[in-house]
Amino acid sequence: MAKYNYDKKSLKGLGVGAFLGEVKTRNAHIEAAEATIPTSVFNANRLAKALHPSVQFARVSRVIDHGGAKSFVLVPDTDKGTQAMAYFRAGQYVSLALNMDGVTACRPYSIRSNPVDALGEENTSYTLTVKHSQSGQASEYILNNWAEGTEVILSGPLGNFYYQSLRDAGHVVALAGGSGITPFCSMACAIADGIEDFDLTILYGSRTHDDILLRDELDAVAERSNGRVKVVYVLSDEKADGYEHGFLTAELIKKYAGDGDYSIYACGPKAMYAFLEGEVTELNLPRRRVRFELSGEYGDPARDSAYPTDAAGKTYRVTVMVRGEERVIFCRADQTLLRAMEEAGISVPSDCRSGQCGWCHSRLISGEVFVPESVDGRREADKKFGWIHPCCTYPISDVALEVRTLY
Ligand code: FES
Repeated sequence: MAKYNYDKKSLKGLGVGAFLGEVKTRNAHIEAAEATIPTSVFNANRLAKALHPSVQFARVSRVIDHGGAKSFVLVPDTDKGTQAMAYFRAGQYVSLALNMDGVTACRPYSIRSNPVDALGEENTSYTLTVKHSQSGQASEYILNNWAEGTEVILSGPLGNFYYQSLRDAGHVVALAGGSGITPFCSMACAIADGIEDFDLTILYGSRTHDDILLRDELDAVAERSNGRVKVVYVLSDEKADGYEHGFLTAELIKKYAGDGDYSIYACGPKAMYAFLEGEVTELNLPRRRVRFELSGEYGDPARDSAYPTDAAGKTYRVTVMVRGEERVIFCRADQTLLRAMEEAGISVPSDCRSGQCGWCHSRLISGEVFVPESVDGRREADKKFGWIHPCCTYPISDVALEVRTLY
């Protein structure tokens, strides 16, 4: 084995006798060492794996019916190798691998439980709350199929929709709609238990009183938060004492934001985002103070003014290279390439389904595609060298692409 060499002249006069002795000792250790790579795992690597597992195996241990929604408590499936659910920051989501009609597809869901529930190595859990949705194929699948004992495969915690003191103000005004209350429910619990250190005012928009999700949990956590969490219920289709009436307007936000500095966090359906963009612009907040959680799939691309209208109504041929094999499928112009592949039985990795995480990253070999600018999360180099995110990419000609598969 080669010895450590050094120029003794460069050390002259530095009083490095002890150091010179170290060199001798080190060389002796090198000579005595095995000529194999150590197999031990550094604690830092062990911790990184525990905090950021690529996959987690869980079981549904409890189902809570809320009427128009259900909550599912997930615990680790130790038989499958998951000993504890990975710790998460309040506001993060997990991507569930769902086998629907024989095809495995991934869907993101925010963790709505207290991060404390996932702390430590025993009795850890996540709670997900899933609401009925006429357009939500995955949500309906979960609501109709998950029961106590159901085995679930999910990602580690994902996303950056969580409080960051360097960027955010000490007061966050949360704008929630429908099941978009779930990440704020987690944040509220974390504040009440001292895990997060900021004040949270939640403006929760619902159509009617009966549509409010997790009302009891929200009121209970506000009660025990020492005034740090406030929840204001805003009903659009009903007037009632103790509730605000209307929408989440700039005026309403100002009323509850107070005079100090504040950040805006928003989570809800796309229609709410479209409305909020105008309202939030009126507040003239610095850009870093405004956070919109991922909005999910973009939907019909024709609503984007840059969309080439002559593509509307057409169906294109898509040649998919999967592990060196070629598959030919078809994709409607208003359908993402990801959706078309899933419908054809090709299980492509995806997490956010919003163009931001890059997990579905695939190579466009040929053809023309349309990517709405507002969801184009690619790096400039990806655009230049023909990489796409199929979750937000629509064909506007026959195309060929190369993908990796989930399993
Ligand atoms: S799934 Fe996140 S970018 Fe496509």
